[in-house]
Amino acid sequence: MKVTIVGAGNVGATCADVISYRGIASEVVLLDIKEGFAEGKALDIMQCATNTGFNTRVSGVTNDYSKTADSSVVVITSGIPRKPGMTREELIGINAGIVKTVVENVLVHSPNAIIVVVSNPMDTMTYLALKSTGLPKNRIIGMGGALDSSRFRTYLSMALGKPANDISAMVIGGHGDTTMIPLTRLASYNGIPVSQFLSEEALEKVAADTMVGGATLTGLLGTSAWYAPGASVAYLVDSILNDQKKMIACSVFVEGEYEQNDICIGVPCIIGKNGVEEIIEIELNDKEKAVFAKSAVAVRAMNDALKSILA
Ligand code: NAI
Ligand code: 2OP
Repeated sequence: MKVTIVGAGNVGATCADVISYRGIASEVVLLDIKEGFAEGKALDIMQCATNTGFNTRVSGVTNDYSKTADSSVVVITSGIPRKPGMTREELIGINAGIVKTVVENVLVHSPNAIIVVVSNPMDTMTYLALKSTGLPKNRIIGMGGALDSSRFRTYLSMALGKPANDISAMVIGGHGDTTMIPLTRLASYNGIPVSQFLSEEALEKVAADTMVGGATLTGLLGTSAWYAPGASVAYLVDSILNDQKKMIACSVFVEGEYEQNDICIGVPCIIGKNGVEEIIEIELNDKEKAVFAKSAVAVRAMNDALKSILA
């Protein structure tokens, strides 16, 4: 029940915080290249234990991968985040080098770990982690759909004036402002289609707000968001470590599912102790199929930028 989080920045530290206070893992190691940074974040989180009442051991290290040994799950948040006006895609050059090196280092000490990729552009970084390591596809999971779905449910809850936890809804496709696909047709309020309560126009606005959900926060905060991203990663880690077999939209390697091959893209997955245990194939209508195919084209095009690093 040991989790390593590489990158003790906004998302990584928030994830460690949520994992601890929810008691998801018995041990969390934060690792960062910035001298003393992970140690400081870990100590700060540990000093919450008596007030929030958790027993998880949280420690921090500067670039010492030996301390991450025998982790069951490794989360990769190292890399640069978006700044206002930047797309996730613009981060590719810098983050690809970081993610490739980090995954290699992690596997030396935790050869059986399940890897959760968060760094952006996430679908491309997930594909890179898979291709550069040759690990089986069930062990590489990109986190994006859990966050986008939670944003979708939040915007639906605001439009409906009902609690977000009573709303079931999912976002599939790429984790990009123009590539993600909020599945409005399948969204429900306690099993009742949301279209019974919201006009087509209102639903279109919810979907549009969801798609630019990350960019809206980047504009407001001056950097990309961390509370919901950190909590979304923790939710995913919980399903792996505690074998919950939750259905979560994740970026995973597809081989024929949704008529796609050789890319990592967001699809509904059953997530348990073996990582990706099943991909659920939703029966999409023609319009949704066309949008998914278009999203896949964009995600595939991004992977072309990895040619030199994978050569
Ligand atoms: P941040 O800048 O707060 O933290 C990143 C940390 O990574 C820094 O502390 C930095 O020192 C560290 N780092 C950089 N290179 C490293 C290396 N080689 N080894 C170890 N640590 C290294 O950034 P933030 O906001 O935490 O975002 C992290 C990444 O996650 C970004 O790429 C961002 O775009 C992405 N992100 C992805 C989301 C998703 O849904 N997939 C949601 C939110 C952010
Ligand atoms: C987000 O969706 C930028 O991927 C980051 O907040």
